[in-house]
Amino acid sequence: MKIVHAKSELRAHVTAARKAGLTVGFVPTMGYLHQGHLSLVEESKKHTDYQVMSIFVNRIQFNDPNDFAAYPVDLERDFALAREAGVDLVFVPDEGEMYTDSLTFVDVGALTKNLCGAHRPGHFRGVFTVVSKLFNIVSPDVSVFGQKDIQQAVSIEKMAADLDFPVRIIISPTLRESDGLAMSSRNKRLSADERERALAISRSLKAAEKLIASGERTSGIITAAMKKIIDESRPTKIDYISAVRYTDLDYVERIDTKSVIAAAVYYGDTRLIDNMIVDTAGGKAKCVY
Ligand code: PAF
Repeated sequence: MKIVHAKSELRAHVTAARKAGLTVGFVPTMGYLHQGHLSLVEESKKHTDYQVMSIFVNRIQFNDPNDFAAYPVDLERDFALAREAGVDLVFVPDEGEMYTDSLTFVDVGALTKNLCGAHRPGHFRGVFTVVSKLFNIVSPDVSVFGQKDIQQAVSIEKMAADLDFPVRIIISPTLRESDGLAMSSRNKRLSADERERALAISRSLKAAEKLIASGERTSGIITAAMKKIIDESRPTKIDYISAVRYTDLDYVERIDTKSVIAAAVYYGDTRLIDNMIVDTAGGKAKCVY
């Protein structure tokens, strides 16, 4: 596995791979890898021959400087995990390599007014800007994003289409710990008690699935049932528990089209997100979470 820090080096390797007839898969990350990231590489390997991963903690997507300062970093461990997962090239730029007095930002405003976008001003603009830059640097055929960050994934799919990035975006299901907690680099920050209480989030999605299976389609009833379960876990703060349409991420009163039911909840200082995609095609609702 090659580890490179400069854009020019990365381009040279990717060009050589392409010359050898290989297709290129790309998984952007901010490091501190867990099985969730590695499952994105697995997915990418199904579609492409040469795997590129980036590790870059992108300051401009952190609306809270404390959150940026607290972001966990362990590059040696990341390299070992990436190597084991079959990554061919890791791109680890420093801030100067990515941003030198940049004045240009990318935004997908209409898809980021709700959910996390409403609570983290500037966050998505930072994400879309760095992902656009990374797409231009790596020029992948396929790029894989996790369902856990559903607003990010759906918006990047739209951004790639709108800006004619010649890349296919794949959204891969959320990986969970055996007790249901969605895998996240942030889980490390939870105390044992907070971690136990945080299981209420995935339990609330299970309860929503049950309600939907029993025929309930009113968003307010489903999200109120979820809130009751989450409230019982004594969260520090609930940012949102919402149902939105999958395509435009706008609020829906009824789940009668492909939708996303999503929650963002704090335990202590740690903000956790989770969601479920509800597909109502064919009249029968299928929940993926
Ligand atoms: O999902 C993430 O880890 C980040 O938002 C991403 C896509 C790597 C951009 O910095």
